[in-house]
Parts: sequence; C-alpha cells; structure tokens
Amino acid sequence: MKQSLLYSGKAKDIYATEEDEVIISCYKDQATAFNGLKKEEVVGKGRLNNQISSLIFDKLNRAGIATHFLEKLSDTEQLNKKVAIIPLEVVLRNYTAGSFSKRFGVAEGIALAQPIVEFYYKKDELDDPFINDEHVAFLNLATTEEIAYIKEETRKINRLLTAWFSDIGLTLIDFKLEFGKDKDGKILLADEFSPDNCRLWDADGNHMDKDVFRRGLGEMTDVYQVVWEKLQELD
Ligand code: TMP
Ligand code: ASP
Repeated sequence: MKQSLLYSGKAKDIYATEEDEVIISCYKDQATAFNGLKKEEVVGKGRLNNQISSLIFDKLNRAGIATHFLEKLSDTEQLNKKVAIIPLEVVLRNYTAGSFSKRFGVAEGIALAQPIVEFYYKKDELDDPFINDEHVAFLNLATTEEIAYIKEETRKINRLLTAWFSDIGLTLIDFKLEFGKDKDGKILLADEFSPDNCRLWDADGNHMDKDVFRRGLGEMTDVYQVVWEKLQELD
C-alpha cells in the first residue's frame, strides 16, 4: 500500500510502502522538456510509460540485468526496490541525434562506428551539464570501478534493447539511463525506460518518442501507443 510521498519528480511520484526497501513509482500524465520549460498535461501518458517501462524492465531482469523493478501494480503504478539514485544521466548513442548533433555540428541519423557512452550531471539548477569520467570522480558520484561497471552494464543493456526494438521494426537511436544503489551498495538499473528517455525511429524515419513533444510533431500518446502495441509482440 502507498504510504508517504517520498519524492515528486517531473514524470513520477515516489511513495514509501510498509516495507523499508520497497517503494511505489506512480507515473504521471505530465510531459516536460527542456528542463521543465515546456510542460503539459498529457492524458494517458502515465499509463503508457508505466506499461512500456514495466515490460522492458521485466525483460531486462529475465536477461540477467540487475534492476530495481519488482512488479507492475496497476495501470500507472509499479513496485520497485528502493535505491539511492546516483545523480548521473548515462546516455548511450548508436546514431547521431539531438544534443550530440548540435554539439559537434553533424546531421542526425548517422550510425556511430562504436556506441558512445556519455555522462551528464543530474542537477536541474545547472541544467544537467555534460561531464566526463574524471568529473564523475571529482564530484564523488562513483568510483573508478563503479564507472567501469555502469558503462559495461549500459553497453550490455544497449545490445539487448537494440535487438528487441529491431525485432519490432524500430531503430534505437539513443537513450538515457539512471542507476542507483540498494541498501547493500549494489548498483541497480533504476528510473524508467520509455519513449520519454530514448529515441526510436521507424523504418520511414518517423520519431516514435518524446521528440514528437519536444519538437511539436504531433500527439505523443499516439506514437507511444504504437510502441506499446509493437512491444507486446515480443515474448
Ligand atoms: P540529447 O540528445 O538531448 O542529449 O538526449 C539524449 C538521450 O537522452 C535521448 O534519448 C533523450 C534522453 N534524455 C532524457 O531522458 N532526459 C533528458 O533530460 C535529456 C536532455 C535527454
Ligand atoms: N527530461 C527533461 C525535462 O523533463 C528534458 C527532456 O527530456 O528533453 O525537462
């Protein structure tokens, strides 16, 4: 049962439960972009992201990835292991897009010879600045060994996700992950995996992700619904 509200984020509220090490994540019908500058109520988004993220985390658990996901409770709620989130946005890019294309002045959609992992310091007041491994160490966000583990795990997750999305006709362009530590200090994949935090292009190059909202390309729930329907074709 939901108890006190522990944290209210842009896309989710986190509640305590009777169990110390277990929390409930409640997905909201709210979309934001550009660090909250653009913000709208989007009916149905909470349900779609909870469904999509639950399906993907369940598959990752079954593939042997250590995650915080326990079970889906309702349309908009899931049960998660409690972790202390490491304030790092771990981005993996398979193709150029978004801020990478802007930063380096390159077109979007160019395949990278090797996937590139980037770190951003998760701090709204600073607009989540781009940082490197040495900054991660300076900021005491993770040790050298932990950084190596997080990168390796991110690449492993990428191989799984790229194959699953390819099976349903979608190209995984890039994505953002967050990791946290449980009470024993074990690093678990946390947060969510949904079209809010990745880029997915269909065979015609259509955006099937939050870029629809960021760039005003249409109704985000329409494309999230397509992603959800396709994902259910996977076993
Ligand atoms: P970027 O190209 O804007 O840096 O985004 C890279 C990936 O990270 C993309 O899949 C969207 C995702 N992302 C988030 O999940 N949260 C954020 O705050 C930002 C800026 C990007
Ligand atoms: N997640 C950020 C926000 O909610 C930015 C983004 O996804 O574009 O404002």
